Amino acid sequence: MTARLVVLVSGSGTNLQALLDACADPAYGAEVVAVGADRDGILGLERAERAGVATFVRRVADFESREAWDAALTEAVASYAPDVVVLAGFMKLVGPAFLASFGGRTVNTHPALSPSFPGMHGPADALAYGVKVTGCTLFVVDAGVDTGAIIAQTAVPVEDDDTAETLHERIKTAERAMLVEAVGRMAREGVVVEGRRVRFGH
Ligand code: GAR
Repeated sequence: MTARLVVLVSGSGTNLQALLDACADPAYGAEVVAVGADRDGILGLERAERAGVATFVRRVADFESREAWDAALTEAVASYAPDVVVLAGFMKLVGPAFLASFGGRTVNTHPALSPSFPGMHGPADALAYGVKVTGCTLFVVDAGVDTGAIIAQTAVPVEDDDTAETLHERIKTAERAMLVEAVGRMAREGVVVEGRRVRFGH
């Protein structure tokens, strides 16, 4: 059985592209059935359209409250009946309605080694702190900011001449490989979450 993925994006969508490319091989075990965004005019949506994948946009500003936006996002995602929801550079926190429907099967990728440097500026915060090793983390989304149970991590070195941008690009190369590998294993083998411990399998 092929796992149905809905991917949510806010930006350039290189992680989405890595998943789209992986899904081209039937042996990968997953397909991207829709791509959603919280804003228009982003490369991530263009990548989906180029791949012939359905898209939708739900902008917070178009709703009277954050709760109404969360309900609308939940409904849009639910209409594609996903097995797994992947937040791939989605720069919004999903809310209670979303977690009630998709908690435990929504994953997010973050450009730092959790629990260090949560939030929107993982690479810049790691650089400012002076760590010599940082990386990326795939986790099961919960109500916190980058706090969920960890599925996979990859370490990435910090170089002396790094800027936040060069470091982020190095992290993103590792992040795409981590995401493709872990989501494929979730699709083919399943995933078990016991408290904070996560393993592939049934
Ligand atoms: C990725 O590095 C992702 O981890 C990060 O945004 C980038 C999106 O790149 N997300 C966060 O920082 C969320 N806290 P992409 O649009 O090219 O996939």
